[in-house]
Amino acid sequence: MNEHSHGPGRSAATRAVPPLRAVLNRVFPDHWSFLLGQIALYSFVVLLVSGTFLALFFEPSMEEAVYDGSYTRLQGTTMSEAYASTVDLSFEVRGGLFMRQLHHWAAMLFMASIVVYLLRVFFTGAFRKPRKAQWVISLLLFWTGLVASYTGYMVLDDGMSASGMRILSAILMSVPVVGSWLAMSVFGGEYPGEVIIGRLYLLHLLTPVLMIGLAAVGAVLRLRQKPAQWPGAHRSSTNVVGQRAFPQYAAKQTGLFLGVSAVLALLGGLFQINPIWLYGPSHAAVAAALSQPAWYVMFLDGAVRLMPPWEVTIPIGDGYAVPPLFWAAVVLPTILVVLPIAYPFIEARVRRDRREHHLLERPRDAPARTASGAMAVTFYLVLTLAGAGDVLALTFHISANAVTWAGRIGLVLLPAVAYWITYRICLGLQQHDREVLARGVETGIIRRLPDGGFTEIHQPLAQPDDQGRSALPYAGSAVPKKLNHLRVLEAVEPASPSTPLDRGVRRPV
Ligand code: HEM
Repeated sequence: MNEHSHGPGRSAATRAVPPLRAVLNRVFPDHWSFLLGQIALYSFVVLLVSGTFLALFFEPSMEEAVYDGSYTRLQGTTMSEAYASTVDLSFEVRGGLFMRQLHHWAAMLFMASIVVYLLRVFFTGAFRKPRKAQWVISLLLFWTGLVASYTGYMVLDDGMSASGMRILSAILMSVPVVGSWLAMSVFGGEYPGEVIIGRLYLLHLLTPVLMIGLAAVGAVLRLRQKPAQWPGAHRSSTNVVGQRAFPQYAAKQTGLFLGVSAVLALLGGLFQINPIWLYGPSHAAVAAALSQPAWYVMFLDGAVRLMPPWEVTIPIGDGYAVPPLFWAAVVLPTILVVLPIAYPFIEARVRRDRREHHLLERPRDAPARTASGAMAVTFYLVLTLAGAGDVLALTFHISANAVTWAGRIGLVLLPAVAYWITYRICLGLQQHDREVLARGVETGIIRRLPDGGFTEIHQPLAQPDDQGRSALPYAGSAVPKKLNHLRVLEAVEPASPSTPLDRGVRRPV
């Protein structure tokens, strides 16, 4: 592998004009965990391309139409233009079904990769100064992606999206004092009205524009700072070890982009997703049983299902009733938006940390953060499982009430348990690393002592100093656990002349 430090080098790229030279010579750290954000970026590109194709044929209108296309089971059925044009996209337009499925799978991959990317940034402390703004931008990209996905589902106006639209109307109405006005304004009258598809479609087209803007600001910030990297051999806060933008990094990124596009094309071509012709057109009075939201909004569905039926009345005038839906579907999501955005600022204050950080922190080295993250993930997972409560009850033949109660109890207990267990695991892992640094790597060779006892031989990581000690300081980088990986610690070894007997850090064993 070619490794470079940040700064002027001697590649062909250095002969380019200065501004271009800086870009071409930029060094990017090389680690698989940095690919996650790029997978999100490339699936977003696929979304833009496939979405533009779909927009050529899609008709965002609630005007009534009678279907007379080639899908016989729907022939003669009254439906909206929006639904009819989506069925036509699936059966009449050449490559239309492929493009629809490609768009849908790309949305799935985008949401999945941005979630995993956010987890990576969180658990490695990559959101710390000077990257707080980038963290906020990434979170906003997740939420705008969620809005884009939701509106994408809704505009098709099929039987499934009818349930989603009904939920939107109920959520809006649950807002105290202004709820009915809000719902009437959004739907342009009583649900479902005649304008909502057009409005959601406009939002569906505006959100990607917003996302492009956010991504552009993120890219500029990124270019102005040097990338964060994992601690390790030869790496410090003042350098970057990795590959130059051109040609190595650029070649890798092109490969990744082609790979992501190929996987999405295979998914879109081979695996059916959202077969709206099976769900039929939407009907205001009909809600499909067992309709499930996409996985990334299931937590919201779960929260609504777990919320106890508590109704609070605000004593203003004749009294305003606040339905339980308001807490689960308006207050909780608001907290979920605000808290992660505020987290870097809260953590910096609690830790009294005003320094800049360019080296990532291993999750075990920030036990409180890692445990809080595990707590949040557990909370999210319990809500997500609760969103599938009816399916679980049906599949495992248990009462739906029991599932709901298990979810309620789990939501209170499990996050706390996850916090405690994760905290202990982090401390245990740190302890193990310190033992390896102090005593060396376990060799698996057991020696019998003259007094009859047994001891395992350890391979020291560094040469013994004058007092015969070979312990290395704990430096926050990965500690070799296998005999052949001793090179990793090169940077943290105290400088000492290498001797023929030096079987420590300088040479792999
Ligand atoms: C240039 C940007 C985009 C355009 C022009 C666009 C356009 C469209 C159109 C016309 C539809 C309805 C037609 C159909 O699906 O058959 C649609 C559906 C959809 N869009 Fe987009 N979109 C864009 C970006 C996005 C983004 C960023 C996301 C999510 C992160 C997204 C998620 C979806 C989803 C989940 C559907 C439903 C797909 C289906 O099952 O058919 N779109 N989009």
